[in-house]
Amino acid sequence: METRKITKAVRAGVNADGQHGSVMPPLYLSSNYSFEGLGGKREYDYSRSGNPTRDVLGRAIAELEGGHGAVVTNTGMSAVVLVTLLLKADDTIIAPHNCYGGCYRAFSSLADAGHFKTRFVDFGNAHKVRQACLRYRPKIIWVETPSNPLLRVTDIRGMATLARECGALLVVDNTFLTPLYQQPLTLGADIVVHSTTKYINGHSDVVGGAVVAKTPALLEELSWWANCVGSTASPWDSNQTMRGLRTLHARLRCHEENTAALVKVLNTHAAVKHVYYPGLPDHPDHHLARAQQTGYGGIVSFELDGGETELRAFLDGLSYFTLAESLGGVESLISHPASMTHAAMSEEAQQEAGISPTLLRLSVGIEHMADLVSDLSTALERASSAPRRSLRIAGASSR
Ligand SMILES: Cc1ncc(COP(=O)(O)O)c(C=O)c1O
Repeated sequence: METRKITKAVRAGVNADGQHGSVMPPLYLSSNYSFEGLGGKREYDYSRSGNPTRDVLGRAIAELEGGHGAVVTNTGMSAVVLVTLLLKADDTIIAPHNCYGGCYRAFSSLADAGHFKTRFVDFGNAHKVRQACLRYRPKIIWVETPSNPLLRVTDIRGMATLARECGALLVVDNTFLTPLYQQPLTLGADIVVHSTTKYINGHSDVVGGAVVAKTPALLEELSWWANCVGSTASPWDSNQTMRGLRTLHARLRCHEENTAALVKVLNTHAAVKHVYYPGLPDHPDHHLARAQQTGYGGIVSFELDGGETELRAFLDGLSYFTLAESLGGVESLISHPASMTHAAMSEEAQQEAGISPTLLRLSVGIEHMADLVSDLSTALERASSAPRRSLRIAGASSR
C-alpha cells in the first residue's frame, strides 16, 4: 500500500470548512440550494445533480484510483448499470462468464430487453477473450479481478492492449481489492467500478457504489447519465461511506493477516478438497496477482469434501462466521455461492463458471485471529465426522 494514498484517504475533506473550521467535513443533507438571484446558480443547486458531502467521497475515491473524477452511486449495481448507459443497442459488452451474479443478471437481462448485446467469455483463457473481441468488436470489455467467487486473476495490462486494438473501453470492477491493493487505471483501464458496500464502507451498514473515470470526457458523460436517471447516492450514505474509507488501510491489513491464517488451516485440512486464494503459490494466477496487486485481500473460497450432510455439519458448527451474502465488512461471513450470490445464474452457467454445490466463500473479518482459526478448525472437524449423503440445496437467494 502506498503511504501517500493512505494519508489521502484518512485526510480527505479534513480541515476544509472555511465557515466554522470544523475538522471533519460537514454533512450537507439539504436536497436543494438557493440561487444568488435570477440566473445566479451556485456550485450546487439540487442534490441529485451534485452534493458537497457526496463530492468529498467522490474526490477521495477518484484520487485513490488515479482517475479524473468519480460518480458516487446509490448501489454497486447502479454503478454497473450506469456504465452500460454508454452503450447503444448495436454495441456489445464482453464480460467474464464468472462475473458477480448480479452483473451477470444485469448484462443478460438488459441484452434480452434490447439495450445492447452481451457476450460472456471465459476470462481465464486469454486466447478466447481475444477471439471474442476480434469477432464481436465490443464497445466495452468488462473485467472483474480477482473474480467472484473463484478469485481468478485477469491481466489488466493485457486487456487494456486488447481494448485499444478493438476500440473498446476497458472497465474494471475493483470491488475485491480496492484502490489500496490494485489501481486498474494506472494499468490501462478507462473506468473503474466499485460496490462501496464492501471494503470501502467496510461496516455492512450502507449499500453504495462508485464509477471512476480516467478522463474528463468520460466523467462528463457518466455524470450526465447519473443525473438523468437518478443513480447518485444520498448525502447520508456518502458521509457514512467516507467514514469507512478513512480506516480502509487499517482494516485491509487485518483482513489480510486473518485470511492468511485461515488459508493455512483450510489448505492442510482433510475436509477441504480445494482452496482458491491468489496468495497461494499453487494458485494458477499467483504470479500475475503478485505483479499486478499489492495485496491478496480478505476473500478465500474453498470446496468442502462431501455433500449436503458435510456442508450442513460444517455451517452449523461455525460461531464466528455468519451465513450471509456480501463481503468486505468488519465481521466474518460465509456464503454458499451456488444458492446465494450466484443463484441468478442457471445451473449450467454455474457449472461452466466452476461454481460447484460444495463451494463456499469466506469474507474474513477483523475479529481476533485466534478465535477465527479455532472456529474454522472446529467446524471442519465436525464436517469430517459427518456421514455422507448427496447434495440438494433448497431456498435459493433472489439477490
Ligand atoms: C464484484 C461485485 N460487483 C458489484 C456488486 C454489486 O454491488 P451492490 O450489492 O452494492 O449493488 C457486487 C455485490 O456483491 C460485487 O460483489
